[in-house]
Amino acid sequence: MNISELKNEFVKRYGEGDFHGYFSPGRVNLIGEHTDYNGGFVFPCALSFGAYLFLRRTDRKSVRFASLNLPFETEVKVEDLDKKVGREWVNYPIGVFAQFLKKGVQFGQGADILVYGDVPNGAGLSSSAALEMVTAMAINETWEIGLERLELVKMSQKAEHEFAGVMCGIMDQFASGMGKADHAIFLNCDTLDYDLVPVELDGIKIVISNTNSPHKLDSGMYNLRVSECHAAVEAISAHKPIKVLAEVSWEEFKSLEGKIENPTARKRARHVISEIARTEQAVQELRNGNITKFGELMNGSHDSLRDDYEVTGPELDTMVEEARKINGVIGSRMTGGGFGGCTVSLVKDEAIDHFIAQVGKNYEDRTGLKPAFYVAEIGDGAKRLF
Ligand code: GLA
Repeated sequence: MNISELKNEFVKRYGEGDFHGYFSPGRVNLIGEHTDYNGGFVFPCALSFGAYLFLRRTDRKSVRFASLNLPFETEVKVEDLDKKVGREWVNYPIGVFAQFLKKGVQFGQGADILVYGDVPNGAGLSSSAALEMVTAMAINETWEIGLERLELVKMSQKAEHEFAGVMCGIMDQFASGMGKADHAIFLNCDTLDYDLVPVELDGIKIVISNTNSPHKLDSGMYNLRVSECHAAVEAISAHKPIKVLAEVSWEEFKSLEGKIENPTARKRARHVISEIARTEQAVQELRNGNITKFGELMNGSHDSLRDDYEVTGPELDTMVEEARKINGVIGSRMTGGGFGGCTVSLVKDEAIDHFIAQVGKNYEDRTGLKPAFYVAEIGDGAKRLF
């Protein structure tokens, strides 16, 4: 749906009058997976698709929420904007309203809200972060609250913790809020220092392959990995006191590794610490124009997520295996939280059609699932549309 169609939908539902529109993108992470909540580096970029939110202030002391993607709609009194509503999608925007209430913001009058998303849900492309971030931006502007964008990013992450129960790092909300067209964000998730690195891939495109695997990123499995990393921090701290795994360099880890008794903690730490090193190196290679090396590091990232972090699963592994068979593929890996969702591959322009046909066929033959492919465009972060 384009913006004028979306505007018509708003008017159909809520009637004529002024209203504003906002957009915040999904993201694809090029490398640096499961490093953010360990204080490490990530390298995501914002996509051109994401979440749209249209909003009109009203005189009623309540907020009406509706979506063009899902049938559930509801009306919530302004003083109840910190209460969960079952397991419905509205918990994403309400979770963000709740963060403003916590800061002492009083909404007074309410609003009518309509949302629409064109990021495939549960595909590991941050549909939820996009919805959180677009809500934060819209609230901040509508009620003229004047918070900095970085604060909105942090509040969106909090909403995910408190209302979705996923103890995520900051990567997704950061990419959705701070992204820039044609750039990837090299972010230190400990200090939040970042660089926007131009992604100028001559004759190469970023291709996202959706496994369409029914296993969603399950908050239980994600949170389990977070706690396994805490266990690894504790084990390492017996030898070198640390707060996050990012404090251990890959060189240091090689001498500490044998001292971590629990094999699971050892493997999880090995992934995280090696991935942080890979990410730093990958960004350097990209800056030097060494895309072949960048692709090799992407492959290394996937293999580590498969063997040491154990978050890939048969569908993601099959997609990556098939992608790597194609001539013209520079690198291929899972992206996002894992356990289903998408892979990201760098593919030479002339190989893209063949890639989509061949990987699509082989993946379907092997898994019985029909995949989907998107050639990614790197877009801007959250913005007001009108
Ligand atoms: C999910 C989380 C992010 C990050 C990735 C894995 O997308 O929301 O914070 O941890 O998984 O890199």
